[in-house]
Amino acid sequence: MAIFTFAVETSCDETSAAILSDNTVLSNVISSQYFHSEFGGIVPELASRAHIKTIDKIAGSALEKSGIKKNNINLVAATRGPGLIGSLLVGYNYAKAFSIALNIPFIGINHIESHLFSCFIGQDEIEFPFIALVVSGGHTILFLVKDYTNYNVFGETQDDAAGEAFDKVAKMLGLEYPGGPAIDNLAKDGDENYHSFPSANLKAQIYDFSFSGIKTSVLYFLKKRFNDKSKLPLNDICASFQKAVVTSLVEKTMLAAKNFGIKSIAISGGVSANSKLRSGFLKFENDSYKIHFPEKIYSTDNAAMIGYYAYLKYKYSLEKDWQKELFEQAFARFKN
Ligand code: KG4
Ligand code: ZN
Repeated sequence: MAIFTFAVETSCDETSAAILSDNTVLSNVISSQYFHSEFGGIVPELASRAHIKTIDKIAGSALEKSGIKKNNINLVAATRGPGLIGSLLVGYNYAKAFSIALNIPFIGINHIESHLFSCFIGQDEIEFPFIALVVSGGHTILFLVKDYTNYNVFGETQDDAAGEAFDKVAKMLGLEYPGGPAIDNLAKDGDENYHSFPSANLKAQIYDFSFSGIKTSVLYFLKKRFNDKSKLPLNDICASFQKAVVTSLVEKTMLAAKNFGIKSIAISGGVSANSKLRSGFLKFENDSYKIHFPEKIYSTDNAAMIGYYAYLKYKYSLEKDWQKELFEQAFARFKN
C-alpha cells in the first residue's frame, strides 16, 4: 500500500504544504510572503502572523490538488527547525494537530537535512556516499553523506551564508529582497570580468567559506566609484560579484570531491537555483562526476522536500515514532 504523506514547511517566509504518494510529489503549494521586501529583510513577528493566516488555505489547496482524501493520508511531517521559532511553531503545531485528529504518525524534520536530500526527490533509493553542498539564506555547509542519517560536516561558512551575501549586496544595489534571483537575472547580461571582487582564501581551513569580505569589497567599490547610484553598471557588478561567490563554492566543493575520491555531488538550498552555480558545477560532468541538483522549485523552501525526507525515514524505519506513542498514552488516559 502506498504511503501518502502530508508535509508542512513554515521555517521562514514561505508557507508550504505538499502531498506525496511514496516518493512522488502529488502537490506542492507554496505561498511566499513578498511583503517583507518593503522592510529589506524578514520581520519574524509578521512572518508568523502571515503563516497563521495562510496555513489552512495552503494545506486545503495541497489536498485538493493532490486528489487525495484527508482520510487516506497515513504519515504527517513538518519542519521542526532550524528556523524562525514563531514561524516554525505555526506549521509544526498545525501538522501535529492534523496527525492527532487522524491518529496517524507524525515526524518532525530537520530543515537542512531535507534540503540535503531534495536533489533526489522522486527516487526510492539513493547511492552513497556523496558530497553535499547546502547553500541557502542561512547556511553554507559541506557534508560527507554516507547514509540516510549518517553524515558529517567538514566545511562551512565562517561568517555570512552565501544567500545572505546575495541578499545584502542586492540591498546595497537598491534591488528587492530576496536578492539572489534579482542578481542572477541582472548578471545574465553583465561582464563577469568587469571587476575582481576578492574571495577570502582560508588557508588553514581549506573547506571553509567566507563571504563577508566579498560583500564589504562591493560596498567600498560602490562608495569609491559611484556618487550617483542611478549610474551603476548593475549588470556588470552583479555578474562580477556572482562570479566571486560561485567560484569559491565550486572550487572548494570540487577540491573535496577530488581529495576524498568521491564522484557524486549534490548541491541544494535556495542558492542552488542560481544559473551560474548550476553551469559552474555541471561542467564537471565531463570529468565523470555525477552532479545532482534539485528541480528549481525544490531549491528554495518547499514542503515537498520535507515530505520526501519524512517518507525515506518512515520507509527505512530511521526514526522511532515516539510522538505517536506519546499521543496514544495521552489519549488512553481519557478513554479509560
Ligand atoms: O533555501 P532558502 O529558500 O531559505 C533558507 O533556508 O535560507 O534560500 C533562500 C536564499 C535567499 O538568500 C535567496 O536570495 C537565495 O536563496 N536565492 C538565490 C537564488 N534564488 C534564491 N541566490 C542566488 N541565485 C538565485 N537564483
Ligand atoms: Zn531552506
